[in-house]
Amino acid sequence: MADPTVVSHHATAPRVEPGATVTITLDGRRIDTAAGQFLIAAAEEAGVYIPRFCYHPRMAPVGMCRMCLVEVSGPRGATLQPACYVPVAEGMEVVTTSDKVRKAQNGVLEFLLVNHPLDCPVCDKGGECPLQDQTLAYGPGESRFVEEKRHWAKPIALSDLVLLDRERCIQCGRCVRFAAEIAGEPQIDFLARGDTVEVNVFSGHRFTSYFSGNTVQICPVGALTATPYRFAARPWDLDQVESTCTTCAFGCRVAV
Ligand code: SF4
Ligand code: SF4
Ligand code: FES
Repeated sequence: MADPTVVSHHATAPRVEPGATVTITLDGRRIDTAAGQFLIAAAEEAGVYIPRFCYHPRMAPVGMCRMCLVEVSGPRGATLQPACYVPVAEGMEVVTTSDKVRKAQNGVLEFLLVNHPLDCPVCDKGGECPLQDQTLAYGPGESRFVEEKRHWAKPIALSDLVLLDRERCIQCGRCVRFAAEIAGEPQIDFLARGDTVEVNVFSGHRFTSYFSGNTVQICPVGALTATPYRFAARPWDLDQVESTCTTCAFGCRVAV
């Protein structure tokens, strides 16, 4: 069986016996949790929310945004580790609210906002944006970055239905992973390196995914927007109701 303390580049939950549990200490509280799951999920189950951007429970973790850093005690003392990427292990001691964690969260948000346009008043994500919410809850309150921000043409059309505003992208890779892993249509990816990195479709191609709407929806910020909804409404003006999809005979539950 794979050693659960060894994390490969693309972390996957280690194989464990069905029903096996481990005991960890979370913010001073001992909890029993299913062996093999990632720390972020175990904490959530125990009522402790760890902030995140790139993590999605149904996609393989990539540990890209670093928003979920927590202190995990190990042989070399407590170190900051991404909770979405580290599986729980017997006896693990985890702290999610220390000064060190808080400082890391401040730093990650300050970095994420270095090149972020902060055009919330004209951004379709405004009012339902995890970046807004987490900046308020975990951010430093102000930035030391006074230099010129990076600029991209905005927005560009990936298709008739999907627009991309690269300035707002936080490079979480959720759209990339969704397109490749879930939709099976790897049409969007990261191009270039360093501060010129951008998410985009491949040169000369359009984003023709059947799951375009879902790809837009999985973006945690206003980088991907759907042309039919653009500037159409604000989330606080809308009501959400459960309904039944009528597109095929399955009749799946949907939220309208
Ligand atoms: S993505 Fe969020 S933080 Fe960025 S401009 Fe839009 S609403 Fe504001
Ligand atoms: S476009 Fe959205 S989902 Fe894709 S990497 Fe950027 S922020 Fe993440
Ligand atoms: S949520 Fe863990 S690194 Fe992004």
